[in-house]
Amino acid sequence: MTRPLKLILGTVSALALAQGAAASELRERAQDMFAPLPSTIPALNDNILTEEKVDLGTALFFDPRMSASGVFSCNSCHNLATGGDDNMETSIGHAWQKGPRNSPTVLNAVFNDAQFWDGRAADLAEQAKGPVQAGVEMANTPDNVVATLNSMPQYVEWFEASFPDVAAPVSFDNFAKAIEAYEATLITPAPFDAWLNGDDGALSDAQVAGLELFIDKGCSACHNGVNLGGNGYYPFGLIEKPGADVLPPDDRGRFAVTETADDSYVFRAAPLRNIDQTAPYFHSGKVWDLKVAVQIMGTSQLGTEINDAEADQIVAFLGALTGKMPEVVYPVLPAETLKTPRPTGEVQ
Ligand code: HEC
Ligand code: HEC
Repeated sequence: MTRPLKLILGTVSALALAQGAAASELRERAQDMFAPLPSTIPALNDNILTEEKVDLGTALFFDPRMSASGVFSCNSCHNLATGGDDNMETSIGHAWQKGPRNSPTVLNAVFNDAQFWDGRAADLAEQAKGPVQAGVEMANTPDNVVATLNSMPQYVEWFEASFPDVAAPVSFDNFAKAIEAYEATLITPAPFDAWLNGDDGALSDAQVAGLELFIDKGCSACHNGVNLGGNGYYPFGLIEKPGADVLPPDDRGRFAVTETADDSYVFRAAPLRNIDQTAPYFHSGKVWDLKVAVQIMGTSQLGTEINDAEADQIVAFLGALTGKMPEVVYPVLPAETLKTPRPTGEVQ
C-alpha cells in the first residue's frame, strides 16, 4: 500500500514543481514589463498630500456647483460607483451637449504619464482645470469657480486648512491641486498585483494563459508599466486602420496637440486597469464588447487575427486587472449663500 501512494505523491510534487517553475519564469517576464501598484499613495509633484487637502478634493470632486449650470460635477462623468467613468459612448455635458470623446476612468489615473486620450495634460492638477472650463463639460470660468468657493465660508476654511501659510488659499490652482490630491487616493489593487508580487493563486489558469497571450501576441509592447498603458503614443491603426465607425475621421488625436503630420490618429495607449468596468471602448466609445475591442486591437495594432478562444483568455486576464475600490464616502457639501453665483444654463 505504501509504495503506490509514494509514487503518486512523487508524481504530484514533480508536476507542482514544473508548474511552479513555469509560473516563476512567466512572472519574471511579466515583472520586466509591468509593475504592481505601490502599496502606498504616490507622492505628487509640488503638491503635498494631507488629510485636509484630500477631504477638500473629495468635496470639490462631488460638487456640481463647480459647473456653470450647477448640474455637473467631476463625478457626473467619472462616477466612482461605476468604474470611474460614465458608461456612455461619449459624455453628455453642459446644456445636454454631447462631447467628442469617451470618458476615461479616473481610477489609477495618477499613474498615467500624461492625461487625456491624446496626452495633452501633463498631470492631474493641469488636467482638472480642463473640464471646468470646457464648453461641452462644465462651461465655467476660473473666476466664477473662485467666486463660488469664496461665497461659502466652510469652503474658505477648508482651503485655509489645506493650504496653510499662503496669502490667497482660495485659488483656481489650489482647487486643481486639491482635486489632484483626492484623485491620487483612487487606486485599486487587483489580483494581477498580488500575482506579480508572488501569489500564484491570485490568477486562474485562464487568466495565466491570457497573460501569456497578452505578452506573446505583442499587446504588452504598448500596454505596459504600472497601468498597462497610459505611457506612450501610437497610431490607432498602426497596421490597419479600423473603420470610420470605430475611428471617426474628424478626431485626429495627438495631431491637434503637436500639429505634426506624423501624429495624425495617434493616441495614448489606453491604460487597462479596471477595463472590464469601463465599457464602451476606445476614444470614440463605439465598441461595447471587450472581446471585440481585443480583436480589433489584434488586426489594427498587430496585423494578427485573434481567434475567439484566444480573445476569451485575454479578456479573462484583463479581468484580473479589476481591483478593489478604495472606500468612497459621499461628502456633505457646504451650503450655498446669497452670494453664491446663480446657475446658468445657456450654451456659451
Ligand atoms: C461632461 C463630462 C465630464 C466632466 C464633467 C468631467 N470630465 Fe473628466 N473627462 C471627460 C472626458 C470625455 C475625458 C476625455 C477627454 C479627452 O481625452 O479629450 C475626460 C478626461 C479626464 C481625465 C483623464 C484620464 C485619462 O486617463 O487620461 C481625468 C483625470 C479627468 N477627466 C478628471 C476630471 C475631473 C477632476 C473633473 C472635474 C473637475 C472632470 N474630469 C469633469 C469627461 C468629463
Ligand atoms: C501599437 C500599440 C498597441 C498595441 C500593440 C496594442 N494596443 Fe491596445 N491600444 C493602443 C492605443 C493607442 C489605444 C487607444 C485607441 C483609441 O484611441 O481609442 C488602445 C486601446 C485599447 C483598448 C481600449 C481601452 C479603452 O479604455 O477603451 C483595449 C481593451 C486594448 N487596447 C487592448 C489591447 C490588447 C488586448 C492588445 C493585444 C491584442 C493591444 N491592445 C495591442 C495601442 C496598442
